[in-house]
Amino acid sequence: MITTRAAICREPRRPWEIVDLELDEPKATEVRVRFHAAGMCHSDDHIQKGDAQMRFPVVGGHEGAGVVEAVGADVTRVAVGDHVVCSFIPACGKCRYCSTGHQNLCDEGKNASTGEFADGTFRFHLDGEDLGGLCVLGTFAERAVLSEYSCIKIPDDIPFDVAALVSCGVPTGWGTAVHAAGVRAGQTVVVYGAGGVGSNAVQGARYAGAKNVVVVDPVEFKRDMAKVFGATHTFADARSAHEFVVETTWGQLADHALITVGVLGDEVIDSALQVVGKSGQVTITAVGPGQLDAPGGMLIGYQRRVQGALFGNCNPLYDVPRLLGLYRSGDLKLDELITRRYSLDEVNQGYQDMLDGKNIRGVIVHEH
Ligand SMILES: NC(=O)c1ccc[n+]([C@@H]2O[C@H](COP(=O)([O-])OP(=O)(O)OC[C@H]3O[C@@H](n4cnc5c(N)ncnc54)[C@H](O)[C@@H]3O)[C@@H](O)[C@H]2O)c1
Ligand SMILES: [Zn+2]
Ligand SMILES: [Zn+2]
Repeated sequence: MITTRAAICREPRRPWEIVDLELDEPKATEVRVRFHAAGMCHSDDHIQKGDAQMRFPVVGGHEGAGVVEAVGADVTRVAVGDHVVCSFIPACGKCRYCSTGHQNLCDEGKNASTGEFADGTFRFHLDGEDLGGLCVLGTFAERAVLSEYSCIKIPDDIPFDVAALVSCGVPTGWGTAVHAAGVRAGQTVVVYGAGGVGSNAVQGARYAGAKNVVVVDPVEFKRDMAKVFGATHTFADARSAHEFVVETTWGQLADHALITVGVLGDEVIDSALQVVGKSGQVTITAVGPGQLDAPGGMLIGYQRRVQGALFGNCNPLYDVPRLLGLYRSGDLKLDELITRRYSLDEVNQGYQDMLDGKNIRGVIVHEH
């Protein structure tokens, strides 16, 4: 047993707190990772606010990259010394979903909101109490024990801070456009919300060949950065974007609307449904209380589709290395996603900056 510093949330709406946790040794199919960097996704904030289902207390963080320090006796996927990105949904490779190319739906992902391992036990402990890690990860800990199914080996020369973002935000956003929506050359795409996830939806849409990548975000800095990521037109509100789409498509409306706002509300779903034309699709990635409230006729008459997207419909074992390859070839911007770096002690400040619209992504850099 070793100890590790970590940011935990004891109960909904309590700030993140830095504590020393006891960490068990990895069991047969598990590994211990020393995290170097952790991305600050909005989903951790949903957990901290009590807006999403989770067992408390919880170790935060589901975007992370680090080095494998120890492996259990039966581990085959990674070895000590490997650099890894963790996948926020594990990929067992064997279940019905993994074996049919839907690793984002892997059956092993069922404990994401309890943080317990498949055998019903926990690896983090504090004063005799068990703690789960978010998505059975907990990248806001300097060290964590993970299932080997949650680890993806990456090349040693990829910096840890950009690699960490390929745990969730990058594949989720990029895949929302490329996989879940299936954007094609020449199309018109509207992206609502250009934060850590939406910026990558913009990159994905542009790389897939969209003619118009229209971004809606109320924050000027996000709109300016969206242009860097490939947006062709940006607007502060949905109404102005709608008017532009009507004009630029000669009334045919958009092919795709991608919803990646911080908190899903009714209004953005309504705007997205209105902005897509015949055979258009609304793809919902954002999490929040928003409800789909549309008359059937609205879907039928224009043959519109509404698609939910988890992890951008990615296959992490394939997509994580592929996205890092696109980074290396200059086809995917990752450095530009990181606005600020924080120490673990600054985690609450990092989330405040996210909510204040100051960050595309904040990244915690662990000090070892
Ligand atoms: N489905 C999945 O697999 C999955 C995975 C990761 C994150 N998420 C969710 O995706 C959402 C986005 O996460 P993020 O980390 O990018 O958050 P973020 O806070 O970094 O970005 C959200 C962006 O939305 C903008 N915004 C807020 N209200 C808006 C509105 N009404 N119209 C347009 N833009 C608006 C904000 O200014 C901000 O730029 C969150 O709800 C998160 O929980 C889902
Ligand atoms: Zn996330
Ligand atoms: Zn599986």
